[in-house]
Amino acid sequence: MNLKPRLASLHKKVDQALDRWLPGEKTKPKTLHTAMRYSVFAGGKRLRPVLCLAAAEACGGTISSAMPSACAIECIHTYSLVHDDLPCMDDDDLRRGRPTTHKVFGEGIAVLTGDALLTVAFEILARTKATARHGMGDFFCELSKAAGSSHLIGGQVADVEAENQKVSPAGLEFIHLGKTAAMISVSLRLGAMSANATHAECRSLGKFGTHLGLAFQIVDDILDITQTSEQLGKSAGKDAAAGKATYPAVFGLEKSRKEAARHTNLALWALKPFGERAAFLRGLADYLLSREF
Ligand code: IPE
Ligand code: IPE
Ligand code: MG
Ligand code: MG
Ligand code: MG
Repeated sequence: MNLKPRLASLHKKVDQALDRWLPGEKTKPKTLHTAMRYSVFAGGKRLRPVLCLAAAEACGGTISSAMPSACAIECIHTYSLVHDDLPCMDDDDLRRGRPTTHKVFGEGIAVLTGDALLTVAFEILARTKATARHGMGDFFCELSKAAGSSHLIGGQVADVEAENQKVSPAGLEFIHLGKTAAMISVSLRLGAMSANATHAECRSLGKFGTHLGLAFQIVDDILDITQTSEQLGKSAGKDAAAGKATYPAVFGLEKSRKEAARHTNLALWALKPFGERAAFLRGLADYLLSREF
């Protein structure tokens, strides 16, 4: 399985669709649309949309049917990063190898850029077609729940509230499940749904996504300590300084690496029913565990 070329080809298809579906820079208000595009096209691994497309393929669907879901998810993810970097949140100057949105456009525009990316996500999602098993409402419900107050936003709230506090392992898992794993899990579920997957298939892929998402955030926490800002394209070494609730802070680096590997194994286990159809998803899970940025 040649992972990298497949990844690059899906990444490019996602970027082309985002370019088609996001308002142009010349559309009024120009500042806002320029800032939205600056944030989305700054780089980024496009992990979530790629997982969405790969899930669709694993369930016998097409890339084009999954594309609205894939792009909607990337818009929400990008909005979450723009807001996460604000001075009132993690206060970061560097993202995706460039100055953060608020550094370039100011805080007010950065807040509104996030708002606009969140909103346009649902406009893009409306391009999805219902399938025999999954209605339009199901797509909207799944994505809004994952991005909502009990998951993405709830996890971010818990992350902020845990700063400089003693957190239990369960509290830490709650943060990571919410702020990261929920969006990764829903990426897979929406991809599967676009392929008219059975509910059992959606459940298996959702479970894969949850464990993959936990492993992903644990690795993110580890890389914050072990890598440089240059390698990451975002400010390294800030979690400890900000007193963030991370796996390394609670368990140490060694145990965190083991936890990331354990969740990757649980993720791979959930792919069992898919056999060969999930070869690319398996490759992605292995690659994400050993990634360096
Ligand atoms: C960063 O996500 C935020 C986390 C959940 C750790 P990514 O590492 O996927 O960021 P991009 O999209 O590649 O910039
Ligand atoms: C944020 O986690 C996850 C989001 C939902 C944005 P982090 O705060 O660890 O993400 P980075 O390290 O800034 O990308
Ligand atoms: Mg954060
Ligand atoms: Mg952050
Ligand atoms: Mg981080």
